[in-house]
This record gives sequence, C-alpha cells and structure tokens, in this order.
Amino acid sequence: MYGFINTCLKSLVTEKFGEETWEKLSSLAEVQDTFMTYEVYDDTVTLRLVKEACSMLDVSPEVVLKLFGEHFFSFCKQAGYDTMLRTLGGNLTEFIENLDALHSYLALSYQEMNAPSFRVEKIEGDGMLLHYYSDRKGLYHIVPGIIEAVAKDFFDSEVTMTILNQSEEDERTGKKEHVVFLVKQQKRSAALVVEKGQRRAKDPQQQADAFKGMQGRCPGLSGPPPSGQGPLPRGARSHWGLVRSVVLWGKENLRYTFTPSYPDKLWMEEKAFCNSFPFHIVFDQDLKVKQTGVNIQKFVPGLQTKDIRIDEYFTIVHPQVRPSREEVTTLKAEL
Ligand code: HEM
Repeated sequence: MYGFINTCLKSLVTEKFGEETWEKLSSLAEVQDTFMTYEVYDDTVTLRLVKEACSMLDVSPEVVLKLFGEHFFSFCKQAGYDTMLRTLGGNLTEFIENLDALHSYLALSYQEMNAPSFRVEKIEGDGMLLHYYSDRKGLYHIVPGIIEAVAKDFFDSEVTMTILNQSEEDERTGKKEHVVFLVKQQKRSAALVVEKGQRRAKDPQQQADAFKGMQGRCPGLSGPPPSGQGPLPRGARSHWGLVRSVVLWGKENLRYTFTPSYPDKLWMEEKAFCNSFPFHIVFDQDLKVKQTGVNIQKFVPGLQTKDIRIDEYFTIVHPQVRPSREEVTTLKAEL
C-alpha cells in the first residue's frame, strides 16, 4: 500500500494519542517510523499497525478502521484533495458512483495503486446498496468511516451503514473481498435546523448588517431587506430574496428530489446523432452492437460488422464485471 495510507495512520495516532504512542505502536508492529507518500510498502505493514493498535487500545479492528476512515477523509482534504472530492457529486449516490473514476485519476500519480472498486445498487424504498470490492481482506470497515464523514461534511446528512453480505473471492470480478452495505441516509435532525433558524431570528441586527454588506458587494441586488427588516409591498419580492430563495431551493431540494424529464422520442436524425456523439455505442441484451458513433468506427472498424458482439472488442472497466446478458440486464443503468 502507498505510504500515503501509512502516513495517514501515523497522523491519526499522533494527533489523537500523541507522538509517544506512535513510537510505541510502530516498534510493536516492527515497522519504520516514517513513510514516503509515493513509495509502495508491503500491505502487511498497514495490517500489522492496525492489529497492534487494536491490542494497545483493546478495541476491535472495526473501531480502529472506522476511526481511520473518518480521519482519512480530513487527511485527504488537508493534503489538497478538497476541491477534487467536492466535485465528485451533488449527492452521496453520485459521490460513491464516481469513486472509481477518482481512484483511476489518482492512479496517474500513484501508478502502482491497487485501488478498491465501488458500485451503487439502487433499491426499492429507502436507501441504497453499496458494493465494495478489494484485493485486500479485512479493510472494509474503513468504508463506513469515510462515507459517514463525507455525508456529514458535504451533504449535511447522517448515514447508517449495515453490512448485508460479505464474501471472499468474488466470482464476478475476481477481487478477493466483496462487501455489500445497506446505506440509509437522513438529513441532519430537524431540531438542528430549527435551532439554527432560532439563532438567526434572535439576532436581527447581525442579519441586517450582513444584508447591508451583501448589498454593498452586489449593487444589483438593491431590493428591500429580508423579512423582519421592514414590510414588503404586497406581492413584491426583493431581488435578493429571489436569489436567496433560488439558491436555498437548490441547496435543500435538488440534492434529494431532482427528477429529470425525457422527451417521448428523439428529435434528432440518426446521422446527426452519430455525428454529434462520435464515440457512443448502443448494444442490446445479447451484447450485439446496434449503433455506434462515427469516430469510434474509425478506431475500431470491426464495429461496422453487422451484429458484432461488444465483448469481441471491449471489456468493462467499471463496474468491474464481465460482459454477459445477465449483467447487462441488471446493471444497465450503471454501464
Ligand atoms: C482524493 C482523495 C483520495 C485519495 C488521494 C486516495 C488515495 C488512495 C490511495 C493512495 C490508496 C492506496 C492504494 C494502494 O496503495 O494500492 C487508497 C486506498 C483506499 N481508498 Fe482511496 N483515496 C481517496 C479517496 C477515497 C474515498 C473518498 C474513499 C471512499 C470510500 C476511498 C476508499 C479507499 C479504501 C477503502 C482504500 C483501501 C484499499 C482497499 O480497500 O483495497 N478513497 N486510496
């Protein structure tokens, strides 16, 4: 595993328990004291550190790994990956769906990386299933630690993650570990929101000052102050109020309830479509190629053969599955 991970473990121990504890831990685990971020260390170094930390603190690997996951998230942000992490998605589902793309991108810097893989399965009703695949065994408790921290910090929500299934040697992907988590997400307690609201209302002077400051910075927003600071004419809405309500509407609602709309048919001719999306491929349940963009045909001329099968030329990188009729049917939203 890259030194980045071991350095993160070291920073967790030194920050939470002090330098001395780290020195004791690293000597008990018989590993070095410092690690180079971009150097690869044997996985046993990390595993030994986790094992010794469990004995020293007299807690289970679940507790240590979860704590590590939580710390890993802030460690990544401090290491300069904050913006990158924020662009992964507008909600937790999108965030998880893009984790493989994130690790693939990171593999440009960490070239020998053997990254885990993640897949979201949407389910009826409440929650979603998170599939975690890894070539390493016994690290899966890191995942709830990271995801819970992400949900709290980026999406202002609490999640609970329950392990539904854990299997070794996943037949489909060849990865050694496959763990399925049931993820349930809840917006942070209504009480907190009310409390925030009360705090705002209690300090009208502060609110008025903030509004004046904002008006100074944005002269275009010259409407009357927000509610509580003078009556608005009937039916009138300040520019500021409008902007604020649009932003808040987006913030509170888009994240949870956005539903796209689709046309009844495609309003585009076949040729125009294939020119506009030059690298697309459409295939049916039997994996037979039905249509392709013009450029991909140049690079893979075999695609012009009638009813050629997609798996004659391509493998699926994400999600990590082997193309088959069953997989295509189950995973059609994710392919
Ligand atoms: C920009 C932020 C991130 C960076 C820089 C990063 C980097 C890394 C690196 C270098 C490794 C070691 C892989 C190896 O040496 O083979 C790793 C492993 C791992 N990463 Fe990320 N990662 C990031 C974000 C995330 C997030 C958000 C998750 C969410 C679950 C995640 C989950 C994991 C897990 C569970 C492992 C342990 C290895 C395994 O399970 O096989 N990472 N990551």
